[in-house]
Amino acid sequence: MGDVASPPSIPMVQLSHGGVSLPILGFGMGPNPRVPDEVSKAAALKAIEVGYRHFDTAPIYLTEKGLGQAISEALERGIIKSREDIFATSKLWCSDVHPHLVVPALKRSLQALNLEYLDMYMIHWPVSGKPKPPKYPLKEEDFLPFDLKGVWTAMEECQRLGLTKAIGVCNFTRKKLEQLLAIATIQPAVNQVEVNPKWQQKELIKFCKTNGILVMAHSPLGGPLEEHKLVMESNVLQEIAKAKGKSVAQIALRWGYEQGIAIVVSSFIKEWMIENLQIFDWELSSEDHEKIGKIPQGRTLTGWDYLSPIGPYRTFEELWDGDL
Ligand SMILES: NC(=O)c1ccc[n+]([C@@H]2O[C@H](COP(=O)([O-])OP(=O)(O)OC[C@H]3O[C@@H](n4cnc5c(N)ncnc54)[C@H](OP(=O)(O)O)[C@@H]3O)[C@@H](O)[C@H]2O)c1
Repeated sequence: MGDVASPPSIPMVQLSHGGVSLPILGFGMGPNPRVPDEVSKAAALKAIEVGYRHFDTAPIYLTEKGLGQAISEALERGIIKSREDIFATSKLWCSDVHPHLVVPALKRSLQALNLEYLDMYMIHWPVSGKPKPPKYPLKEEDFLPFDLKGVWTAMEECQRLGLTKAIGVCNFTRKKLEQLLAIATIQPAVNQVEVNPKWQQKELIKFCKTNGILVMAHSPLGGPLEEHKLVMESNVLQEIAKAKGKSVAQIALRWGYEQGIAIVVSSFIKEWMIENLQIFDWELSSEDHEKIGKIPQGRTLTGWDYLSPIGPYRTFEELWDGDL
């Protein structure tokens, strides 16, 4: 399997499983609120132009089509030389988290993206919903028990069929990863979870490193919603940013990079796209790390939208296996 060519400014990281490498900083295609195809296409094209090569989309983000169009245009215009220059991730939405629906769902993503294969296919949440067209959020009565073994076997089939180079999961706790590792023939290469200075996930990162799973931070700036402020308006980060002549976003991203994890960050604003890339030629001091290490912890993405009074997850405790 070929490596992805990347602009020299973004370091590459090799996955333990599948022999695939990817740029450690990726571009998140999950805008909030959702946008029309032409907007996501323009953003992805701009991101390719400024140097991003790793793209994170999902059916539920409604950006697969725009990303595919951007990749086609970047190829036509010679901004990239071949499909292999891009690392493209998409995800299996909850309503397709059923063994017989996994391969068809991946094929739909490929069709939307106009690609022959993905570089990474992930289970979006450890949640199964009634089979129906992807929709967020799920209704209370739509949640079903998750057939982990059946669904993961189908994910493995996707990789064997060459529809994706690697497979992974998102929002899995250590307990859920342990259950997965016990039944997997092909191990998950990545666990994409919230990681930022406000929710540092030290134990989960340690566990994943021990087991050869790359942690990929989503919401590295605290996500797009009101909770975003908990990271971006943190006094500790603001002080460090001021002293270093960097932005708060850059401090949060550099901190993530120094945890030895991959990151996907999102902005459709060109100046921020560029700013977010400029984190690889300077570093944080051990004092900076000590201060950031003392920031009070809490999830910004609580997962309330995956709870239902009729289960399977009735409480945060159950969804996150007590890791709150
Ligand atoms: N697997 C999952 O369950 C999951 C969950 C959440 C996210 N994700 C993935 O992770 C990606 C990133 O997460 P996210 O989009 O939730 O949150 P994020 O990257 O932490 O933050 C995005 C927000 O920060 C703003 N921003 C970006 N760069 C900035 C800068 N330099 N200065 C100031 N503000 C800046 C953006 O504003 P503008 O939008 O106005 O530019 C946006 O509001 C998503 O796009 C998606 O691909 C995955």
